[in-house]
Amino acid sequence: MDTLRIRGGRPLVGSIPIAGAKNSVLALLPATLLAEASCTIENVPAIRDVKVLVDLLRRLGAEVAMEGTTLRVDTARVVNRPMIDSGVRSLRASAYLMGALLGRFGEAVVGLPGGCNLGSRPIDQHLKGFESLGATISQRAGAIHLKAARLRGTRIYLDVVSVGATINIMLAAVLAEGVTVIENAATEPEIVDVATFLNGMGARIQGAGTDVIRIRGRSPLNACRHAIIPDRMEAGTYMIAAAATGGEVRVDHVIPLHLEPVSAKLREMGVFVTEGDESVTVKGTDPLLPVDIKTQPYPGFPTDLQSPFTALLTQAKGTSLIIENIYEERLKHVLELNRMGARIRTDGRMALIEGGTPLYGMRVRAMDPRAGAALVVAGLIAEGETAITDIHQIDRSYERIDQKLRQLGADVWRE
Ligand code: EPU
Repeated sequence: MDTLRIRGGRPLVGSIPIAGAKNSVLALLPATLLAEASCTIENVPAIRDVKVLVDLLRRLGAEVAMEGTTLRVDTARVVNRPMIDSGVRSLRASAYLMGALLGRFGEAVVGLPGGCNLGSRPIDQHLKGFESLGATISQRAGAIHLKAARLRGTRIYLDVVSVGATINIMLAAVLAEGVTVIENAATEPEIVDVATFLNGMGARIQGAGTDVIRIRGRSPLNACRHAIIPDRMEAGTYMIAAAATGGEVRVDHVIPLHLEPVSAKLREMGVFVTEGDESVTVKGTDPLLPVDIKTQPYPGFPTDLQSPFTALLTQAKGTSLIIENIYEERLKHVLELNRMGARIRTDGRMALIEGGTPLYGMRVRAMDPRAGAALVVAGLIAEGETAITDIHQIDRSYERIDQKLRQLGADVWRE
């Protein structure tokens, strides 16, 4: 098992290109199943979760070819079969196979999705959506069975603002008869990206990016070509790392507006953040001011950046408060940060960070991709050597993190 080793204390300096968004591509790949055609997706990130999902598509009979960062998926010869193995269970995004297969074949058997262990992660809103569209649903032997003679457009109100449910219902609804309206929909940029992709295939989706999405079903869908939006979580992580190390980093190929929640918080800490057309530059400062963070659906502060931001707040002069509103259990990185010298107290979904403590390198474990990113930020600040085990977790969401950090002057290597 690979370990990431970091000798801390060097400021990150330079510029770094940001990859395509993980949470987009993980929905776009299943979306290709909706057309019996070949779709080309550009700006695909080189991360583990993409490989797992590509394997799942191949098992369904899709022909997938990768050239550089461009992926071509031909779904003409796809056959519907139960998808229930460990690949499915290792990935939250495998839930999108439900919407896509139900849309195309009127039937799907998909194992309960896994993914990061962040507390209970139900899919009741996805299922509520499928049921409203006319599917019958049963759960047997750890798999969801969905069946519909025909899917009919309808009005669906989500009880919880959910990225996954919004996307999954869009996938099932694009080939349904009539109009589907999703109310209280999530508004994340990745949802807009998925809608743009589907519209490129000939779907008729309006309102993505607002909390009411209207889908006029039509069939068939066609081939398309699409470039994925930049990954705001990868960009945000490098911005946080730049501020934590007192360096100066330009993240390139980004949409600055998507980074506003993290830019605003960094500015509140006294960090210099300047925006270009397709770049954001972060320049560290001393002292860093403490801030409070409450994670929220977009455009609030993203839960996915809460973990690396916690590591940054250990260096602020004063006490910061974090409230994690999205997940029940997304403060597991705190244990490891405290072992490295941080002084953080947690109570349920709250963390109180007493900043200004030196961190010390040691052997720590990445529990999930973002907890791993928190340890990377901590390792970059820490005195001595940090060894992060289970870096396959980090590789699920961050492409070549060791190479990219080295490009910015960090002393990092993989062992
Ligand atoms: N929820 C329900 N019922 C549902 C669906 C969600 O109660 O049917 C709850 C969840 O338990 C959670 C909240 O609603 O408390 C929000 O969950 P959401 O459905 O929005 O999350 P997701 O679709 O499972 C995606 C990303 C996550 C990211 C969240 C929130 C993918 C593959 N994953 O998950 O990304 O944290 O949206 O923005 O798109 C990550 O990248 O590290 C990651 C975990």
